[in-house]
Amino acid sequence: MAMLLPLTVDELLTTTRAVRKRLDFTQPVEREVILDCLAIAQQAPTASNMQNWHFVVVTDPAKRAALAEIYRKGWNIYLTLPVAAPNLTFPNPAHQAMQPRVTASARYLADHFHEVPVYVIPCFMGRSENQPAVMQSALWGTVGPAAWSFMLAARARGLGTVWTCIHLFFEEEAAQVLGIPFAEVTQACLIPVAYTHGTDFKPGWREPLSTTVHWDTW
Ligand SMILES: Cc1cc2nc3c(=O)[nH]c(=O)nc-3n(C[C@H](O)[C@H](O)[C@H](O)COP(=O)(O)O)c2cc1C
Repeated sequence: MAMLLPLTVDELLTTTRAVRKRLDFTQPVEREVILDCLAIAQQAPTASNMQNWHFVVVTDPAKRAALAEIYRKGWNIYLTLPVAAPNLTFPNPAHQAMQPRVTASARYLADHFHEVPVYVIPCFMGRSENQPAVMQSALWGTVGPAAWSFMLAARARGLGTVWTCIHLFFEEEAAQVLGIPFAEVTQACLIPVAYTHGTDFKPGWREPLSTTVHWDTW
């Protein structure tokens, strides 16, 4: 059993950051700690108790290198989109001030993707394209909480993670690298995993709660 960091539940929930620059590429990640975190992920809620989740763990250097190239191809497309972090503007100066840091951090990850020792790719059976919202909610709402539970369990064990979706510009190509049957299985995201340089992380800045809560009516 890996040692758990002395974090309260609220500290764990508020300090599990998108970790990129503080990933330690040199420290090996034990298979057991990944399996411990995935066993915790499996306790997430699941639509119709289908337990429709699969986790592809990638440690093979050649496969990681191939996926890193796919990620970098996607990164170049992402940068051209209006929703890319460097192209967004926010009225709140504190929010706006975060964007250069997020961009620099994301660029660092893109540059060093192949060096991350473990990737975890949560998947679900089926494809959500062209499904009604109720079915999409069931599929994504099952895999999302499981992936986040994995990330929380990883943080509790001194590991850093970040939810990434940019490789999905070329999901089919990534499926070929990993032998995933693309027509039947959807990759939800790709989570790079590594031990972190230090374990002290702070809560992130968020818009005031009052701007996002709608009580009884929108
Ligand atoms: C749905 C989703 C997709 C994301 N995709 C990427 C990605 O492809 N690459 C990346 O570096 N970060 C990605 N992120 C991480 C966000 O950029 C990060 O959560 C955000 O900058 C806020 O940082 P924080 O989570 O530490 O507060 C993604 C996060 C989410 C929730």
